[in-house]
Amino acid sequence: MISEKLQKARDFEDQYVPRVPPETRPVFHISGGIGWINDPNGFSIYKGEYHLFFQYHPYSTLWGPMHWGHVKTKDFIRWERLPVAMAPDTDADPDGCFSGSALELPDGRQLILYTGVLRKRQEDGTLLEYQRQCVAIGDGIDYEKYEGNPVITGADVPPGGSLLDFRDPKIWQEEDGTFRAVMGNRCADGAGAVLLYRSQDALHWEYETTLDASRNEYGRMWECPDFFALDGRQVLLVSPQEMRPIGLEFHAGYGTVCLLGSWDRKALRFTREQVQAIDYGIDFYAPQTLETPDGRRIMIAWMQNWTTASSQPLGIRCFGEMTLPRELNVRDGRLVQNPVRELENYRTDRVAFQHVPVSDGEITLPGIRGRILDLTVTIRPRGSELYRRFAVMVGKDGEHLTSIRYRPAMGTVRVDRSRCGFPHDIVHVREFFVRPRNGELKIRIILDRYSAELFFNDGEQAATFVLYTDDHADAISFSAEGSVEMDVEQYTIRVPS
Ligand code: FRU
Repeated sequence: MISEKLQKARDFEDQYVPRVPPETRPVFHISGGIGWINDPNGFSIYKGEYHLFFQYHPYSTLWGPMHWGHVKTKDFIRWERLPVAMAPDTDADPDGCFSGSALELPDGRQLILYTGVLRKRQEDGTLLEYQRQCVAIGDGIDYEKYEGNPVITGADVPPGGSLLDFRDPKIWQEEDGTFRAVMGNRCADGAGAVLLYRSQDALHWEYETTLDASRNEYGRMWECPDFFALDGRQVLLVSPQEMRPIGLEFHAGYGTVCLLGSWDRKALRFTREQVQAIDYGIDFYAPQTLETPDGRRIMIAWMQNWTTASSQPLGIRCFGEMTLPRELNVRDGRLVQNPVRELENYRTDRVAFQHVPVSDGEITLPGIRGRILDLTVTIRPRGSELYRRFAVMVGKDGEHLTSIRYRPAMGTVRVDRSRCGFPHDIVHVREFFVRPRNGELKIRIILDRYSAELFFNDGEQAATFVLYTDDHADAISFSAEGSVEMDVEQYTIRVPS
């Protein structure tokens, strides 16, 4: 049954989405229909197609009562918009359908496990928000919420755990048919943890163990966990709130953390072995993954950050995007990520240069410009002396630019968008370590109008940024202090509508 609230959201989309000017949207990244989006949800395969849902408030460009928006694709690049999937419309989720996940049931239906939010006025007048896990089942368009919701409540939280911060279940099914799900919780020490649950029918759940916890080391509440095997290792992804900076690896605020380790399934023990940031940019949060039939682990994330999301360009109708889906691997003990290979099917108009010298100055190259492109720059020292600095400038005109600057002596990249044209005092600069390989640094830059996703050394590091620059600013230049030689290869991305 389609509730009044859900119908209202669908009608609102029908009326207003066509009025959002297409040139204000990215070309191959997911944006919402209209209004506000955050976290990717329910990233999964259903009847041979990839589905993605997202946190959605169609009625304004600010966060509000959470609905689930919905898109699907065959190749991660061309997405089809589907009607709003869920609205906060039952007694189990009256104040929001928060993040969650989805899978195809053996009987061919699609199951969603998500967080239902219920706000309750307390005796002292304060309002508390209870978070419980709920189920909805559907056919890829319409979803029926389970009458037994919520299916996991505060009663299922281990001692000391929080009933208020208990959210974002990620579900999967194992070979023997057992369903498992991880979700974020806050422990007695006030910091985040990831809880593991088990079920035989995805409706009745029992707590199994706590996989890992922050212990106030990697932020406070851990949001949006994901847990999977990859290249012989076990990966736990979390998005912590209130991180404290650690060197150039983690910055203050909302971060993303990859815990690499091993998983003893019998003993239910996850052993953490390495910790790293998932993305080193400003605009990346709440990633979620799926596994493709050909065995690739694909990750997608919200291309924003809570700290900056309330400063928005004037007059926009549609706020928020997802990152490009990325293929994950573990290489040399690190999580490695690269744009999905399907992007290559949309590359046209190759322009390439080799062994271009850049010495103590700034240059442009004929044909190297644009805001919807896939550009790779490989830099190496020219001669025996190490250069002091190399930079690529994108989104450039007489007034604006965003710079990606590399200092080989420090081993750092610094991305600076403070001159991108956005007159708000939000964080605009991020600096992080990269490692040259055989003296070379390779930077792949994916631009899609209002974003730049950077991949260093074939995905050893990724860094994601929103560009608040009018897309007429499309010049690209290269500069050096000292003497550099570079190879440049550019493709325009063209996605037929
Ligand atoms: C993460 C998050 C989730 C929550 C959702 C609400 O960005 O805070 O923990 O489910 O957003 O929109």
